[in-house]
Amino acid sequence: MKMALSSTLSRLNLIPRPWLPYTVTTLRALKLKPHKPQLLRPMWAPLTLSSFSVSAQIHRPQDDNLIVLGIETSCDDTAAAVVKSSGEILSQVVSSQADLLVRYGGVAPKMAEEAHSQVIDQVVQEALNQANLSEADLSAVAVTIGPGLSLCLRVGVQKARKTAGSFNLPIIGVHHMEAHALVARLMERELQFPFMALLISGGHNLLILAQGLGQYIQLGTSIDDAIGEAYDKTAKWLGLDMRRSGGPAIEELAREGDAESIKFSIPMKQHKDCNFSYAGLKTQVRLAIESRNINAEIPISCASSQDRRSRADIAASFQRVAVLHLEERCERAIEWALKIEPSIKHLVVSGGVASNQYVRARLDQVVKKNSLQLVCPPPSLCTDNGVMVAWTGIEHFRVGRFDPPPPAVESEDFVYDLRPRWPLGEEYAEGRSEARSLRKARIHPSLTSIIQASLQQQH
Ligand code: KG4
Ligand code: ZN
Repeated sequence: MKMALSSTLSRLNLIPRPWLPYTVTTLRALKLKPHKPQLLRPMWAPLTLSSFSVSAQIHRPQDDNLIVLGIETSCDDTAAAVVKSSGEILSQVVSSQADLLVRYGGVAPKMAEEAHSQVIDQVVQEALNQANLSEADLSAVAVTIGPGLSLCLRVGVQKARKTAGSFNLPIIGVHHMEAHALVARLMERELQFPFMALLISGGHNLLILAQGLGQYIQLGTSIDDAIGEAYDKTAKWLGLDMRRSGGPAIEELAREGDAESIKFSIPMKQHKDCNFSYAGLKTQVRLAIESRNINAEIPISCASSQDRRSRADIAASFQRVAVLHLEERCERAIEWALKIEPSIKHLVVSGGVASNQYVRARLDQVVKKNSLQLVCPPPSLCTDNGVMVAWTGIEHFRVGRFDPPPPAVESEDFVYDLRPRWPLGEEYAEGRSEARSLRKARIHPSLTSIIQASLQQQH
């Protein structure tokens, strides 16, 4: 069997020169007006400044004219988008597996893989059509390689490599959670490193300090379930309409309920760290539902007004405590982050759960109290999407981190570089707690440690 890709280190090599012809072709094909050269944002690590400034000189004339296709299939959404390095979003297409979610009440990997495979070609084609481009006009293809479900990641990576191989395009492997964070820089062009980010989705709860591109300190993570999972299960047990996933259904129903009616306890109060846990809150909610004899088989639309009221109270009480846990952790994380980087001005909140208005409003108060600013991408860019992948690809491509084009025809037994369990950054040493996840097996080295190793090797 052939060995996987290049090694992780060479995947992130810093060799921009060979790819200049690709961007030039792109410019010609599109007859784009040359833009004013734009300075690269300063990088965090002084030792790399010289090599980055070389690549900046090489790339600068094309910097604003890169056009990247982003592909995302790490969970249950099949998404593709075309984005320009100037920040212009040329297209965005998302095909969600709503019917599967309703049927299984969660993501079933094999079904999700099949659903991705069925629509991936169509989704990518639609993204190109909407952008009024063909593959030959692209500068590169970016694709999520982790973390996520390997069966699902494989569909996107396979498509990305096929497209890149057929059109001789460089390829950029993207970290899904980094993409959730960096999309904020596409929306808010003033957002400079260092900044903090709270990333809240179905599979992850992460509090990070972003010091530079690919340079993250992990202040906190979920030791069991993520907040989105808790929203989804609560919605399922309350018999809510799961077609738009559980989160929006809970948010809507919670508006009708009394958030103080059930006193769920806030998770991990005794642990003075920034980690998260939602498994216990899920159990509290399940017990509350059982004790009120709520029958999830009866959809909320058919429930009596008293039953509806009771479900709304649970939704509101759950949401209040789920978000209080976020608030408490953010307060502490801000304290920690300001000690490490006193110049921090922003907290980015992204990931599917960040599209929730209640979450945004509560976190806005926390952030303001600490004289910081909240940056929240619009809901369509908070939930999984191809734009964030394309944009993160652009950010890395601009500093020379990408793979060369794959062969036009890839051998059947080629082993893809997929990273289902892939931490984003290195853990903040002072923030380590005893309450830690036991699931440590088969974890890939973090994005930050890979980049640091490749920078040291370069030097
Ligand atoms: O980031 P995302 O689209 O996919 C993952 O990477 O997991 O996040 C999906 C999660 C789901 O659990 C969904 O219920 C939650 O985000 N979500 C919300 C809202 N919209 C999506 N949770 C709370 N309120 C919302 N409005
Ligand atoms: Zn996500």
